[in-house]
Amino acid sequence: MQGTRKVTDDIVWVGCNDRRLALFENLFPIPRGVSYNSYLIMDEKVTLMDTVDASVTGQFMENLEYVLAGRGIDYLVVQHMEPDHCANIEELMKRYPDMQVVANTKTVQMIHQFFDVESDGKVTLVKEGDTLSTGEHTLRFVMAPMVHWPEVMVTYDEKDKILFSADAFGTFGALDGNIFNDEIDFERDWLSEARRYYSNIVGKYGAQVQSLLKKAAALDVSMICPLHGPVWRTSLDFFIDKYDKWSRYEPEENSVVLIYGSIYGHTEAAVNSLACRLADAGVKGIKVYDASSTHVSDLIAEIFRSSHVVLACATYNGGIYPPIENLLSDMKALSVQKRTVALMDNGTWAPAAGKMIVKRLEEMKDITVLEQLSIKSVLREDRADELEAFVRKIVEAM
Ligand code: FEO
Repeated sequence: MQGTRKVTDDIVWVGCNDRRLALFENLFPIPRGVSYNSYLIMDEKVTLMDTVDASVTGQFMENLEYVLAGRGIDYLVVQHMEPDHCANIEELMKRYPDMQVVANTKTVQMIHQFFDVESDGKVTLVKEGDTLSTGEHTLRFVMAPMVHWPEVMVTYDEKDKILFSADAFGTFGALDGNIFNDEIDFERDWLSEARRYYSNIVGKYGAQVQSLLKKAAALDVSMICPLHGPVWRTSLDFFIDKYDKWSRYEPEENSVVLIYGSIYGHTEAAVNSLACRLADAGVKGIKVYDASSTHVSDLIAEIFRSSHVVLACATYNGGIYPPIENLLSDMKALSVQKRTVALMDNGTWAPAAGKMIVKRLEEMKDITVLEQLSIKSVLREDRADELEAFVRKIVEAM
């Protein structure tokens, strides 16, 4: 049975959901699943905008056949070659032998890397600014390298002012029938997953996202159709503003996220004391996370959200407790910057994690290391003044 939604009179969402996949990219937990969006433009020439992941091929083909109702596909626009979108290219080339694959040079190279297909006479090569008329619609292609792979391009439909945005403006989370942003409470129910998707999937490529936003700003966009998550047809500025902040590595909120790595709970106890004192000092929106039980992708998303971070870490094997070490590696890999970080470290005989964390933070761009409080096993009441001074430093920096 098909499951499709009309986006406009002649554009249909033919995407699919996967609620069984545990780890996106075999890495990121997706408890709410993920959608793989694909769109059919039913013009004089029929155009398909990307395909879907191999896990949902059966549903995708049913959706396509229902909307096509016996027509063929004239063009398949391939905006991104990551397998969550490109998995069905070979199958579609077999089913629709007259179909032209519309792609740039890098994309064609990747098609041959992934698939054993003959592309002579079957590819329409496009580059920045090229257009394709499908009848009433004119599609204009805009290159968006590294958002999130080098071959990525987005497509602007001049007729309906739609930006088919590839991974940009995507989110984790399956679509529950309500595919449009105005059918859901995005800020309440989706924003945290959108932030986690952005910061972990595209976060490294802020400069490239900024380039794409500048190109998009020159277009008159009334709808955004991404490859994951809701279609945006109202309040576009809300999400564009989030993307602008995230890609400039500017925090959304002036607040503190406290992340600890604690072996037996003593470092955690110190963090709880600190959190209460920060709250007493008037800080709102404080969040505390255990790095051992919180997936690193959630920690990264929270660091993207918040202006100030406290890292509290036990010393382990003479070094950094592994979950915090993992977080630091991810922060560097994802180009986290423009944050103020205060440190607590703990060690029963030789606290060493603090110094090592400072070194790691210094390797990152534009990170201010504020203060360090070293603990020997347990933070006791006789150090209350030091803790207060630590709190004051953080609050003064906010
Ligand atoms: Fe959704 Fe980069 O693929």
